[in-house]
Amino acid sequence: MRNKLAAGRARLSNPRIQIRKIKKLTTEDVSALILNTSPWSNLGFTKKDAKQMAKTSQDRELLGAYVGRELVGFALYKFGFLGGAYLGNLVVKGSYRGHKIGEKLMRAMETQVFQKSKNLYLCVSSFNKGAQKFYRRLNYKKVGVLKALLVKKHDEYLFRKSRGPIRG
Ligand SMILES: CC(C)(COP(=O)(O)OP(=O)(O)OC[C@H]1O[C@@H](n2cnc3c(N)ncnc32)[C@H](O)[C@@H]1OP(=O)(O)O)[C@@H](O)C(=O)NCCC(=O)NCCS
Repeated sequence: MRNKLAAGRARLSNPRIQIRKIKKLTTEDVSALILNTSPWSNLGFTKKDAKQMAKTSQDRELLGAYVGRELVGFALYKFGFLGGAYLGNLVVKGSYRGHKIGEKLMRAMETQVFQKSKNLYLCVSSFNKGAQKFYRRLNYKKVGVLKALLVKKHDEYLFRKSRGPIRG
């Protein structure tokens, strides 16, 4: 039992993370990672939304974070948004947060996006202070407020990282 616990802790303190492109998410993947966790729980996400996200994932760009064969996070984004790409969803599984997996996903996505375009955008909920701090640390700037975009009582903040004007 003690060995099992020690092994579990070692895995968490130094997880071997692999970031790779994947083709699609299953409803089970999405449900396991986003249901019953903030911000989606505060925004009223249900299994139906998880199913929809899984369905749209096959038409978007997708990066998965793996520890062994376990999917522990993903970044789902698309091109064709104001001279760049839009990050629709970023999540790291609760027990793996704080191990720079989110940062690795962002860096891998930025490499892809800035090869082809000048901007990366994302929305973050007004109550999601942890994620705002995370994005600010990665040099994303708040460029707008989308009042009550998803639900009545919360706003969405539009964040952007830019490599310069679209026309140079
Ligand atoms: C935001 C998120 C993707 C960051 O991934 P991560 O692997 O924990 O990030 P990193 O280890 O690279 O960076 C850690 C930083 O993330 C931020 N953070 C936000 N929520 C966090 C959480 N629940 N646990 C740990 N860090 C969190 C903190 O700023 C933290 O920095 P600190 O350690 O100095 O406090 C992840 O916490 C997550 O999935 N949160 C819930 C979903 C979410 O808010 N997604 C963004 C929607 S716009």
